[in-house]
Amino acid sequence: MPSVAEHYERILSPVYAWMSGGAEAAIAAGSAELEALNLPLAPGARVVDLGCGFGMHAIPLARSGARVLAVDSSAQLLAELNRLAGDLVIDTVQDDLLSFRAHLAEKPAAVFCMGDTLTHLPEHTNLDFLVQEVAEALVPGGCFVLSFRDYSEALLEDDRFIPVRSDERRILTCFLEYEEDTVVVHDILHERGGDAWETRVSSYRKLRLSPDRVTGSLETCGFDARREAGARGMVRIVARLR
Ligand SMILES: C[S@@+](CC[C@H](N)C(=O)[O-])C[C@H]1O[C@@H](n2cnc3c(N)ncnc32)[C@H](O)[C@@H]1O
Repeated sequence: MPSVAEHYERILSPVYAWMSGGAEAAIAAGSAELEALNLPLAPGARVVDLGCGFGMHAIPLARSGARVLAVDSSAQLLAELNRLAGDLVIDTVQDDLLSFRAHLAEKPAAVFCMGDTLTHLPEHTNLDFLVQEVAEALVPGGCFVLSFRDYSEALLEDDRFIPVRSDERRILTCFLEYEEDTVVVHDILHERGGDAWETRVSSYRKLRLSPDRVTGSLETCGFDARREAGARGMVRIVARLR
């Protein structure tokens, strides 16, 4: 099975902004989500966006005056972020998000891990490692905001087929195959080239993380965590370092 990075290179990175409803609309949605969070971020605050993708949250954070370190494993998505950011200054790094501290010279006021990036970690134990790293990196009272899909309850039968997005030249469907602690996500992309449709299929593994498991890890590492409904059917957890 391809790694997460290979899967993104193979199928998801080129269509990620499209599947999110278009870059402009997605960045507007990211901006609205951040505004609703109303985090106490001073102008010029250092913030980190882990698994930033094309910048759905990194770009609005930079627009609001934060100094953003944006980390992602996909060179293609980081290039798209830099193009969409225009004149905004965002520090982009292509690396594993678990290594984010290697790229920080100061303590951030907030760390974000949004849009289901968390479930892309290879092992359940990586969650505890990441939470500990964020707790050690943040300023006292700093925030860690996460949003992810709750795959802990398995969908059954036809509900496992998810129509992600379609238009006249592209159809993306995903099929979920549940394992004990993980779920294999099969992405099926149909694209119209000239008169014919081309089909590409690629699969990768995600973690089945329950919100209680994530909240428990945060509380063990010294955070007060609040769980709420996130965007696009995700769970959002807003955690503040005690
Ligand atoms: C589901 S997307 C979310 C993107 C963005 N946060 C958003 O809300 O639109 C997951 C992102 O995490 C990146 N990613 C996955 N695993 C990663 C890892 N271990 N280290 C760095 N980036 C990773 C992918 O390349 C992708 O851009």
